Amino acid sequence: MAVSAPTLSPAFPIGSRINERGVLEIGGCDALELAREFGTPAYVVAEDDLRARARRMLDAYRACAADVDLLFASKAFPCTAVLRVFAEEGLGCDVASGGELALALAAGVDPGRIYVHGNAKSVAELRAAVDAGVHCIVVDNAGEIDRLEAIVTGTQRVMIRVTPDVRGETHAAISTGQADSKFGFSMEEAPAAIARLRASDRLELVGVHYHVGSQLLSTLPFERAAAAVAQLGDFPVVDVGGGLGVAYTDEEPPSFEDYARAKVEAVERHLGPGKRIVAEPGRALVANSTVTLYTVESVKRNVSLWVGVDGGMSDNLRPMLYGARYEAHVVDRFGGTTRCHVTGKHCESGDVIVRDALLDDPRVGDVIVTPATGAYGHALANNYNGVPRPPVVFAKDGDARVVVRRETYEDLLARDV
Ligand SMILES: Cc1ncc(COP(=O)(O)O)c(C=O)c1O
Repeated sequence: MAVSAPTLSPAFPIGSRINERGVLEIGGCDALELAREFGTPAYVVAEDDLRARARRMLDAYRACAADVDLLFASKAFPCTAVLRVFAEEGLGCDVASGGELALALAAGVDPGRIYVHGNAKSVAELRAAVDAGVHCIVVDNAGEIDRLEAIVTGTQRVMIRVTPDVRGETHAAISTGQADSKFGFSMEEAPAAIARLRASDRLELVGVHYHVGSQLLSTLPFERAAAAVAQLGDFPVVDVGGGLGVAYTDEEPPSFEDYARAKVEAVERHLGPGKRIVAEPGRALVANSTVTLYTVESVKRNVSLWVGVDGGMSDNLRPMLYGARYEAHVVDRFGGTTRCHVTGKHCESGDVIVRDALLDDPRVGDVIVTPATGAYGHALANNYNGVPRPPVVFAKDGDARVVVRRETYEDLLARDV
C-alpha cells in the first residue's frame, strides 16, 4: 500500500511539497540539492510565492477601496531582488532609513513610489530622500518639521505619523500604537503639528499615518485606531500601516481579504469614504515565502537532546528577541518523535532556534529546514561570533539562483583599517 506524503503546514511557501524521493521541494527545487549546491545555512525564497502574495494583497485592497497605493515595508526583507519582484508586481515601498532608501533606489524602485519613515531621521537621510524625489516623507516629530523646512527648497509631500493610543495585541517589542511609544506624534501634540504643516509653504500635508504593531492576529485594533485618528480632522490620504500576522506554527491570522476589508472599513466608518488608502504590509508578503536550510553539526544529550546546526541567532534573531516559535524538520525525513532542541552555534545559551522540536532521529549531516523565515530574518542577520551571513537563493520552476551571495571572511575584514 502506498504511504501518503506528509502534508506541509501553511508555514511553508506556496507550491512546496515532499517529492517522490521523500525530500522537501521549494520552488520545484529539492532541498538536499539546494543545500549541496549553495551550502548552509541558506535562505531559500520561492519567488512565485512572493508574487502570489503581492497579487493577492493588491486584489484584497482593490476589492474594497477605489484608490489604493500598496507598498512593501522593505524592512521586512531588505534585498534588491525582493524589492524588484514587488516593483514588477506594481507595489511601491516604504523605507525606514537612508540604507533602505539606497537599496530601494538601487533596485530600481520609482522614487515616486517610495515613502520614508523613521523616528530619528538624520539631516543626511532627509536630504537624500528629498534629493531622490521620494513621493512622501512620513513626519514623526516636531524637530523633523524644522529639519525639513530647512532642507526643502521647492515643496515636499508629507504625511503625519500619529500614535493613536491603541496597543497592538502582540509582543511588546513590536507594538507601536500605544500612547507611550517612540513612534509618531502623540494625540496631544498632533493638532499643533498638523496646523504647522498646513501653514507651511514648503511641506504639503497630504495625509495621516498610523501603524499599531506587527504580527497582529486580530483586526480589532484597526477599528480603535481609526476612531482615535478621526479626532484629528479630515485627510485625503490615510496610511493604515502594516501589521498582519502570519503562521509560523499554529497561528491563525486573518486572511488578506478580511484584513484589508477591516482596515478600509474602519477608515470609511471613522475618517470618511473616498479616501486614498496607503497600506504597507511587510511580514505578510514575505515571511512564508522563505525557508532556512541548516546542516546538523552536533547531536548530544545534556538532560535534553541538543541538535546543533551551522547557523542560529546570526541568521534568525527572532527567537531570542521575541521568543518567536518555528517549526523544524529533517528535509528528507519529515515527521518524527525524537524530542530535541534545535540550537544555533553561537556562544549564548539563549541561541535556540526551536525548542521541543519533534524530529526523526536527528543525526550529524542531516539538513534541517525551518519555514517562515522570510520576514525579519535576513533583515536582522548579524555577524555574531564572526559567522558570515547566509546567501539568499531564489527558487522557481526547479531552477535556483543566488540573489545575495554568502558573506566571506574577507567581507568580515573589509571595514577594518
Ligand atoms: C511604519 C511601519 N509600517 C509597516 C511596517 C511593517 O509591518 P509588518 O511587517 O508587521 O507588516 C512596520 C513594521 O514595523 C512599520 O513600522
